[in-house]
Amino acid sequence: MNNSDPATLIKFEKVSKRYRNFQALREVSFEVKEGEIVGFLGPNGAGKTTAMRILAGFFPPTSGRVFVGDVDMSKHPHQAKQVIGYLPETVSLYPDMRAIEYLRFVAKLKGVPAHELKGHVRGKMSFCGLIEVGHCLIGRLSKGYRQRVGLAQALIGDPSVLVLDEPTTGLDPTQIKEIRDLVRALGQNRAVILSTHILPEASMLCNRVMMIHQGEILASGTVDELAACLKNREAIHVTIKDRKDKDLALRLLKSIPGVEDLKAAEDVKGETFLSFETSGAARAEDLRPRIAKLFVEHGISIMEVQKLNRTLEDIFLTLLKEGKLGRRSS
Ligand SMILES: Nc1ncnc2c1ncn2[C@@H]1O[C@H](COP(=O)(O)OP(=O)(O)O)[C@@H](O)[C@H]1O
Ligand SMILES: [Mg+2]
Repeated sequence: MNNSDPATLIKFEKVSKRYRNFQALREVSFEVKEGEIVGFLGPNGAGKTTAMRILAGFFPPTSGRVFVGDVDMSKHPHQAKQVIGYLPETVSLYPDMRAIEYLRFVAKLKGVPAHELKGHVRGKMSFCGLIEVGHCLIGRLSKGYRQRVGLAQALIGDPSVLVLDEPTTGLDPTQIKEIRDLVRALGQNRAVILSTHILPEASMLCNRVMMIHQGEILASGTVDELAACLKNREAIHVTIKDRKDKDLALRLLKSIPGVEDLKAAEDVKGETFLSFETSGAARAEDLRPRIAKLFVEHGISIMEVQKLNRTLEDIFLTLLKEGKLGRRSS
């Protein structure tokens, strides 16, 4: 096992899940290797929690196979679950237990040997910043601290696979930052898969992102790769000084091949905003100098020409528009 290639720790092979008459996952396949933090990114109802519950061994898929390391989850569920730490979407903690008691209880359940138990739990509490609240009742802890208890619980037994379902949902900005810092530190020698509907979170935390929608993976790659595959659709905004030049400006822009989706708006002072997307031939060159020159030649005063960087949000929306929307019938 000591070769240079990182091991594949999670593997989904054409995993589908049907709840009664609702198809929640459709032939989802992917792998996650040791050292990777991979994000499941998608809107509510996309199927993220369903996929994570299957991975955590909560219920089996309707069809398809799940491997944790080399272990087939359907054949050896107990063995597979042993190497998985799971932070569910809503952590069900015991409000009347003290944090430290609860974590020791989890450690016992997970089979941490008795003589190591206290030290093991203390290590996880220390990592998650829980030492000073260890003796507080869980029910009295803030949401941020409860989430840390949930994370510490997932870390007990040193699982090589961590499954974190929307780890920052419902937390305030300071708590979000703390949880994100913890998650980042966890990615080192494990496979971490986390779900989020927050696009910047995925780009901040994850080496790789899988965009999931209506139970299907629409796209997968690093944030940069996903952006690159849409690079031929860039957006440019031009602000001109005077609304009287609007029609001329629109005509000039229309004459440039590859300019699409042209829109115009103006503000009360008469400043006019033109925006458009570029594709095909227009992509190779940066159109900004050409537009500036063209407008100046025609006596149009430019306030600003701006190329917009695509965010994950744009990418996601574009994939939805161009791709696989409306394949719901089943
Ligand atoms: N136990 C269930 N029975 C029926 N439908 C379910 C069940 N759990 C989830 N669903 C449906 O499956 C879809 C995916 O849900 P979920 O996996 O929770 O998505 P996400 O976590 O991405 O928001 C949703 O439309 C949801 O309503
Ligand atoms: Mg969910």
